Amino acid sequence: MNEKELVGKEAAKYVEDGMVVGLGTGSTAYHLIVELGRRVREEGLNMIGVATSVQSAELAKEVGINVQSFNDVKEIDVTIDGTDEFDPALNGIKGGGGAHLIEKIIAVNSKRVIWICDHSKEVTQLGAFPLPVEVIRDASQHLFDGFVAKGYAPSYRLTPAGDKFITDSGNYLIDLHLEKIDNAPQLAEELIHLVGVVEHGLFLDIADHVIMAKDDKIVHFYK
Ligand code: 5RP
Repeated sequence: MNEKELVGKEAAKYVEDGMVVGLGTGSTAYHLIVELGRRVREEGLNMIGVATSVQSAELAKEVGINVQSFNDVKEIDVTIDGTDEFDPALNGIKGGGGAHLIEKIIAVNSKRVIWICDHSKEVTQLGAFPLPVEVIRDASQHLFDGFVAKGYAPSYRLTPAGDKFITDSGNYLIDLHLEKIDNAPQLAEELIHLVGVVEHGLFLDIADHVIMAKDDKIVHFYK
């Protein structure tokens, strides 16, 4: 079993009967959703899933999970999602799959947030992974030029066909190639105040627990 599958299956154990669960996006969350579907079908687990992307909603429905929209649930007990990087304070970068806007909305409205990942995601300092910024299409080129001027080395997220990637919410993504982020709270504050920026992929003070797989072992990190 690979690390993503191992940790996805492990995290599914944290879901109890009657819970409303935020379902993450990506190749690690895939294994979580498949395992939760198995528990629903084979063990009669009674849960509601709130998906963080169209992709995860489709998968969850396919495997038998009752999926509801965030607007239709009162509260979310736990969100379990992947991450692209996490540091020793459990701050992270997300959005490698282009879903960080809805992922952040669901996460900040959850009682608990668990990230699941393979061991490549553990870092001492954030920033080697390109930081995704979701932007309104009409504002994108001016924001892009501004990022160039600041030395943030932006690139548009592209589809395999070479078109600009469009998020589930209809926006473009600009990835900032920063190499390292010395002051993440300051950068987060700066980005969110740029008119036309919808959301950035810095997830600060959001995760409570990281479950990481390293080879065939499970390692836990708590805030
Ligand atoms: C999607 C995300 C993912 O959680 C992140 O990219 C990790 O993905 P994977 O589990 O495929 O490595 O933030 O927007």
